[in-house]
Amino acid sequence: MVSDRPSQEGKLSPGAPNDPVPFGGYYLLGLIARGGMAEVYRARPQLGDRRLLAVKVMRPQLAREARFIDMFHREGKLAMMLRNRCIVETIEVGQHDGRHYITMEYIGGRDLTQVLRRCQESAQRIPVPHAVYIAARIAEGLHFAHTLGGPDGRPLNIVNRDVSPSNVRLSYDGDVKLLDFGIAQALMKFTSEIGILKGKFSYMSPEQIRGMPLDARTDVFSAGIILHEMLTTEKLFRGDTEFALMEKVRKAEVPPPSNFNRRVTPELDAIAQKALARDVADRYQSAAALAADLDALIAGYRFDPKELRQFMRQLFRREYAKELEESETSLDAEPGSGEVSMQVVTGARAGTVPGVGTPTETVPRHMIPGIRGAGSQLTPTTNPVGPSPQDPQPRTESPPEDPDKPRGFWGSLFKKRK
Ligand SMILES: Nc1ncnc2c1ncn2[C@@H]1O[C@H](COP(=O)(O)OP(=O)(O)OP(=O)(O)O)[C@@H](O)[C@H]1O
Ligand SMILES: [Mg+2]
Repeated sequence: MVSDRPSQEGKLSPGAPNDPVPFGGYYLLGLIARGGMAEVYRARPQLGDRRLLAVKVMRPQLAREARFIDMFHREGKLAMMLRNRCIVETIEVGQHDGRHYITMEYIGGRDLTQVLRRCQESAQRIPVPHAVYIAARIAEGLHFAHTLGGPDGRPLNIVNRDVSPSNVRLSYDGDVKLLDFGIAQALMKFTSEIGILKGKFSYMSPEQIRGMPLDARTDVFSAGIILHEMLTTEKLFRGDTEFALMEKVRKAEVPPPSNFNRRVTPELDAIAQKALARDVADRYQSAAALAADLDALIAGYRFDPKELRQFMRQLFRREYAKELEESETSLDAEPGSGEVSMQVVTGARAGTVPGVGTPTETVPRHMIPGIRGAGSQLTPTTNPVGPSPQDPQPRTESPPEDPDKPRGFWGSLFKKRK
């Protein structure tokens, strides 16, 4: 019999890589993070592809609001239409045991808040070309969503509204993926009452703070904040009180990033300033225009996106090794006895179950999803995270007298993960 641990008082058993716990059509394999409005679990399907997924389960408090549920499911369906290399793939929006959830592809890596915090703690910077590349990919994903049309060809006018470092995930393969696309509106609307919106003001546009109607250009501004923060390793807008913070965003006085980082050129300063123009008319009018300027800069750097992969694996050396190990365990562990395998073998969706016919079958390391890429990348024998020979901005290691060392209030500016 499959161990069925019923949820107690709305709490789910999170499972573990070697202890899969059934939830809906999935096995939960451990908690990734618990946020104000949701918990995110690593998971895999009970049937079908052997791949890692992330299941984001909404807090039960949110489910008390019927309008939230409607909106959540409507927006989740919209998110499923967003198929772009820079946006996390949404696979399902569903409900199980009274819990509403959204299933996504699993992105083995770290979010940008964690990256910035690690940089602060270790007095490093995201090298300029890497930062420009990440911002360009964010803008690319945004533009795709902004211009997506419905089945009738009419524009859907999707605006993210929640572009922030915690919603940008960098994979250990060097991918940049926007998270939480689509569900932002529902969450924003219904979470202000339970006080979760607070941390979000620092990534809003002036018009969003003012409660004015929003279009794609609000996301351009938020992407500009992220670019600025990657270049400076400092929060752009902060205040001692919520009110002070909101005032800062409203005024949108933005110092050029080169004030904090001498490697930022005047061209890059200009791009950041234009993305961060207070008045929408002065701003980049589309995320594509921002992406184009950033990509043009990158062409001049002769930057290879592979360097981002190396950067991530180096910055999170231990975490990356753990990720490899847990991903493998997660896909191989079997819950309970043989009953589940019977389910798989006799499942009506045979044929969509590659490699799962025999419960003991293992997936070659190079096929582990979630950490996509060539097999060699998954063999941590050679130094997978060595410094890039082409890195135009050698990273820190020699702090005190280094004038390029990011300044500031180390370690406390980018929120600690819960
Ligand atoms: N598809 C995914 N694959 C891997 N990790 C993910 C995925 N989706 C979310 N995460 C991670 O789960 C963590 C929690 O995400 P969550 O969206 O709940 O919180 P948040 O972004 O910090 O805050 P917010 O509630 O404002 O969105 C983050 O570190 C995020 O990177
Ligand atoms: Mg999020």
